[in-house]
Amino acid sequence: MNILLIGSGGREHALAWKLAQSRLCTKLFTAPGNPGIAEHAEPVALDVTDHEAVIAFCETQRIGLVVIGPEAPLVDGLADSLRHACVAVFGPSQAAAQLEGSKGFTKDLCARAGIPTGGYERVTSEAEGLAAIARFGAPVVIKADGLAAGKGVTVAMTLSEAEAAVRDIFDGRFGAAGAEAVVEEFLEGEEASFFALTDGHTVVPFASAQDHKRVGDGDTGPNTGGMGAYSPARVLTPELEAEALSRIVVPTVQTLANEGMPYSGVLFLGLMLTSTGPQLIEYNCRFGDPECQVMLMRLESDLGELLLACAENRLGAIEVPRFSDDTTLTVVMAANGYPDTPVKGGAIRRIDAAEATGAKVFHAGTAIVDGELVANGGRVLNVTARAASVAQAQERAYAAVDAIDFPDGFCRRDIGWREVARERA
Ligand code: AMP
Ligand code: GLY
Repeated sequence: MNILLIGSGGREHALAWKLAQSRLCTKLFTAPGNPGIAEHAEPVALDVTDHEAVIAFCETQRIGLVVIGPEAPLVDGLADSLRHACVAVFGPSQAAAQLEGSKGFTKDLCARAGIPTGGYERVTSEAEGLAAIARFGAPVVIKADGLAAGKGVTVAMTLSEAEAAVRDIFDGRFGAAGAEAVVEEFLEGEEASFFALTDGHTVVPFASAQDHKRVGDGDTGPNTGGMGAYSPARVLTPELEAEALSRIVVPTVQTLANEGMPYSGVLFLGLMLTSTGPQLIEYNCRFGDPECQVMLMRLESDLGELLLACAENRLGAIEVPRFSDDTTLTVVMAANGYPDTPVKGGAIRRIDAAEATGAKVFHAGTAIVDGELVANGGRVLNVTARAASVAQAQERAYAAVDAIDFPDGFCRRDIGWREVARERA
């Protein structure tokens, strides 16, 4: 089977690496890909917002499965267009992708389905927003409704911070994504990410991970797309995972199916592990980046088979995903200036030396210019290692990081710190 993978980040490099190992994969194409992905897939110049062009490519190349990595094409309805043209696709419809595309949609769905999540109000003007935060009191959380590249959420510890966040949204800082907002109860606890696969009816647990969103050591500085992750997140015990599955994922999938918008693909749950159990912070309609990299390094099952079974609505007929008991850990190397103004063009050398240590280096924002590998984005490399313990995986990942020559880049030095501390306790 020929497979087309859409996307260009570290998540897609990990997907390409694993799909290329699938017994179902004859040839892998990627649009647009990156230099790391190009080691496993043939890059094609396709404008993924031009659905007719993607369909025509799939027909010409007899593509048996399209795997959509990022959220933007999903929210844009690419999966619907492909399904309509009878092309098998891994990824939800535009209607179901509202789980990520609209915070208000998700909160209303949770309310209808009785899913544990913070109390909330949807607001459509500054006046409504200010009135809502006055009712909630501080601390309180304010979220632009739509996709805001991870920048639309403010956890306000004071009312004046909350008011500023409401004004920002309705002053148009997030454009159409901020036409509406959600004011939400502040939840306290440790965060963990959990992933489940579904074909719209059958649900199977995938794996857990913990991301590190702040740019600096000790979880300081501005939020980013994620500076590193490890898997599994052992803080999400088997009992808590079962609870998240039965109280959050299953009712979500059932409600969406009953309401005529079955969800097919991966559900990414941002969870807050509170004193009363896991509560949903947010849904994403895709794999996490860099969570995908650490989960796929532990995956022992055939990824192509799993994703095709989701696409073909027969997840119940195949074996559930199997994972190694090892811990995997990835360190994001970012370009200096990230997340605000990453420096492009910095030379990257000695990836082979890093991989000689046994680690795997996934490419995110890289490019080849004049025959040399250079930084071409904020997050540049994901240096990923595995071991029997998180402390050892951390040590191996940093040994590989230290082998890389990337003078215009930086990374956090403490990825995995919560779990390392628990392991030592
Ligand atoms: P989101 O984009 O919804 O994942 O939110 C970004 C981050 O804001 C989350 O990872 C949490 O750290 C934080 N956050 C979101 N909602 C809440 C909440 N209700 N209570 C506490 N923190 C939250
Ligand atoms: N690492 C967080 C995300 O992919 O949204």
